[in-house]
Parts: sequence; C-alpha cells; structure tokens
Amino acid sequence: MSNDPIASAASDVRREAARRRTFAIISHPDAGKTTLTEKFLLYGGVLTAGAGSVRAKGDRRATASDWMELERRRGISVTSAVVQFAYQDRVLNLLDTPGHGDFSEDTYRVLSAVDAAVMVLDGAKGIEAQTRKLFEVCRNREIPIVTFINKWDRPARDPLELLDEIEDQLVLDPVPVTWPVGEGERFNGLIDRRAGHYVRFSRTAGGATAADEEVVAAARAAADEGSAWHEAAEAVELLDGAGAELDVKRFEAGELSPVFFGSALTNYGVRMLLDAIVEMAPPPGARLDAGGDPRPVDTGFSAAVFKVQSNMDPAHRDSMAFLRVCSGRFERGMAITCGRTGKTLATKYAHTVVGRDRSTAEEAWPGDVIGLVNAAELRVGDAVHTAGEPVRWPAVPAFAPSSFRMARCTDTSKAKQFRSGVRQLDSEGVVQVLRRPEGGESAPILAAVGPLQFDVAEHRLRHEFGAPVELAPAPWTTARRTDEDSAAVLGSMSGVTVAARDGGELLALFESPYWLARLQSDHPELVLERLIGEG
Ligand code: G4P
Repeated sequence: MSNDPIASAASDVRREAARRRTFAIISHPDAGKTTLTEKFLLYGGVLTAGAGSVRAKGDRRATASDWMELERRRGISVTSAVVQFAYQDRVLNLLDTPGHGDFSEDTYRVLSAVDAAVMVLDGAKGIEAQTRKLFEVCRNREIPIVTFINKWDRPARDPLELLDEIEDQLVLDPVPVTWPVGEGERFNGLIDRRAGHYVRFSRTAGGATAADEEVVAAARAAADEGSAWHEAAEAVELLDGAGAELDVKRFEAGELSPVFFGSALTNYGVRMLLDAIVEMAPPPGARLDAGGDPRPVDTGFSAAVFKVQSNMDPAHRDSMAFLRVCSGRFERGMAITCGRTGKTLATKYAHTVVGRDRSTAEEAWPGDVIGLVNAAELRVGDAVHTAGEPVRWPAVPAFAPSSFRMARCTDTSKAKQFRSGVRQLDSEGVVQVLRRPEGGESAPILAAVGPLQFDVAEHRLRHEFGAPVELAPAPWTTARRTDEDSAAVLGSMSGVTVAARDGGELLALFESPYWLARLQSDHPELVLERLIGEG
C-alpha cells in the first residue's frame, strides 16, 4: 500500500474502473431485449423470483425505462436509462437504447457512453430492419459486439444459415462460443466450445430463477439427446476445422462477434452470455479528448453528458442530465465545471437512475452513469470536470436528417411556451431544430432521422409545454453541412435552403438529391459535407 494519498486515490480509481463493464443491448423490437435485461438482473440478484420486474405489473409493455405516456401507447422505448448491478466481483452498467431506428441518433449518443454492446437476434427471424440500422450505429463507433441468438426454445432457423446472414449482411465475422443442442421444445443445452463440454439445462418454473446446469459427458449426451447431439457435435467439429476462433483484438475493433445461443425466457444460456460480457467486454479505458489526447481513467474527475431528459417525472417537472464518468472518482456534493461554459454546477442532487426509480449516488467511478437533476445548462456532448485544465470531448456529430417539418404554434397566446419547448427539445436532441433568418423562433424547421421523432416532439410540445403545434410537411429530403462563404452563394440559388442550428452550424437543405449532385458538379468549390448516417 502506498502512503501517498494521490497515488492511492489513483490506484483506487484504476481498481474500480477495472471492475466495471458498461454496455448496451441493441435489437429489433420483440427480439427479447427487455426479457434479457430482466434475466441479467435476475442473475445479478437484483430481481428475485416473483418480486419486482423490469416491467410494471398489468402493463406488459411498460419497462423500467419507459416513462413517457407516448412510449406506452406506442409500445416502443424512446428514452434511455441505465441499470447497475453486481455480477461476480464486477459492477455492470447496462444502458438502455431505443429499439427503433428512427431514434438512431439517440442510440448513437448512448453508444458513446458504452464500451460494448449485445446484439440480440430472434432465432426465427435473424437480422431484421432495426437490427441493421442499430448495428450500423455500433459500426460507426467501432463498438465491440457480442451476439445473442434468442428464442431457441421456439422453432428457429438453421444456426449455420444465421451465421452466414450475420457475415453477409453486417460484414461482421461471427464466431460461435456456444452451440445449441436441439431446438424448440427439444432445446436442452449448449456445447461450450471453449470449455469443450456440453451443458444441459433444466427449466425452472416460469424462468423465475436461474436455470439448473449440468455438465454432461459426450457418451451420455449422445445416448440422451440422440440425433440432436450428433448434429451439434458435427457442426462444432466443422467450426473447429474451419478455424472459427475468437480473436480478442478483432472483437475489440468491432470486426468479429462472439456468438451465443439461448433463450432469455427459460434462462438457457443467459449465464454464459453474462460471463462472456464480464470476461470479454473491455473495461473503461482512456478516452480521447477534443485535442486527440488520451485522458487516462486515473486522472482527475471528468464525465461526458450523453443524454438530457426533461420532465421524466410528471410530479416533479424537472430535467436530468445523464453523465458517464470517464475518469476519476465522483463524489456527491463535489463542485464540477462544464468545459463548454466554464460554469460550476452543484452535485448535491446526483442520482443513479433505474427508470422512474432514483436513488442518491454517493460516489461513482469510470464507466458508471450519474443523473444530475436540474442541470438545465448541460447539453449532450458536454464535458464536466473538477479542478485543473478544462476538459472538452470531440463534438458529437449530428446525424443526417432525412425528414423535415415546418413547425408552427397554432395558439398565438402560447408563443412563449412554444419557443421554450422547442429550445428544450433541441437541447435534448429529440429533434434537430433549424432556423432561417425569415422564420426565426416562431417558425423553426424540425429535422429528424425518422418520422417517429416528430410524434415525440409534437406530443411533448402539446402536453409538457402546453403549446399546440402544427407540423407541416416540408419539401427537403437531404441535408449537407456548409460554411458561411458557401452559404452566401447557396442562399441566392434556387432549390436550396440554408438554415442554422443553435450552435451556428449551417446546413444546406435540398429538395432532391439530383439537384444536390448537379450543384456539386457545377460548383465543386462549394462546401457541402456529408453528415453521418446518410444512406
Ligand atoms: P423487446 O424488448 O426486444 O421488444 O422484446 P421483449 O423482451 O419484450 O420480448 C418480446 C416477446 O418475446 C415477449 O412476448 C417475450 O416474452 C418473448 N420472448 C423473449 N425472449 C424469449 C425467448 O427466449 N423465448 C420465447 N419463446 N419468447 C421470448 P410477448 O408475447 O410480447 O409477451 P408475453 O408472452 O411475455 O406476454
């Protein structure tokens, strides 16, 4: 033990960071993300048999992270929260991501706060539309992905065919770590390729407790499982022969994905998946700052804002900024400074958040998420820090919007509420807000990656801010980033509109991609940069 308090504090931070695994689950709606989350909590000892559940009783679709009325009505999760639980001697932080690709910009921000992701596929369906969209976001961020092929207790597709699909459609190298023996009602266990043995499960009532596991020798497995065993053993031999081995470096680079089979419903394979997350997912490491310099985990406290959410609790009408701790130790009550504004914030009301339930966060370490109440000045992408040089993170890139609406408040007496509501939605990143000199604050353009974002914006403006709105269709389909000089030229051209974001960034909006292409070939000197996520 060191007697130097600074060295010993740094070693505490390194130790705590090494224990953390911060990850998210991505999946097409209905593939089993919520069920798997519940089962992780079950294995983590957070949920006990029959007691609380991620879902509220009587409302099958309401998960702990669903707190908006709209979400419940739609049956989709549009907001993000985090659950923290202990597993073995580790601390796992599971961040929720929206299940719909229309919110991929939001997903992107959440994924900026994780070190790994679990991609859940339905064994009968394989890769679905939203899986692809969300996966692309992971690829953009080079996040290591563990694949879980779920619902193996039901009739499923040929496992080799599913692997081919992952490889072909996602250009991701799938390497099975477990292999199923049987499927549907005859799914009895998994061959663990690394341990080289067969694990047989037995169901517990309603999947309410961990599945019983028994290691069964090959001869007995062959006798008990019959043809299912022979088929599985043959497939594993084939994989071994083909050299399908885990390469940690390629996994960490997001090029290869370890694959696990199982059933979140019956808990088969859930423990193996959790063990793999603990073992393979990288712990929090040094993060690059805006200048490209790595900021090691054991330097002074710093954190990144990845989500701002207002009025989570209708009874309180407050807003909360979610921060991922990047370095150092967070202690409740410490004064922190926002790198962008230089303003100091109190942290007396720091929380850890599980859906609507909050508990006070006394301390947090790299990889953990804290929620700050009423930190209205914080924006997504902001850095906060304690003493020393200000910290700035690289800018969070805005996604390419492909849907646009002209917003207008239909009740002139509510103009003030409308303006403040639009500003709030902008700072939360619910929609992108663009303004033209002639439109000003009263007629902003709302831009989105997917049209569901407009439903959320309209609902919130009406119900939270009391501003009834009309969102009229707008003609644009494509946006490009431009600069002041080019904007001056573009402003005088037809078929293009220049609008500004709150931070001053300028976007050129086009009604047709052909017009954009023509303009680019006629005027190569104009700055027209692509935004990320453009198809
Ligand atoms: P999501 O969050 O990804 O949208 O999926 P969710 O967990 O809500 O699961 C969607 C449906 O699939 C649920 O059924 C759930 O019970 C079922 N499911 C999840 N994992 C498995 C699995 O491993 N095996 C089987 N057979 N089903 C699974 P539901 O009909 O919507 O609800 P309910 O049957 O639970 O009432």
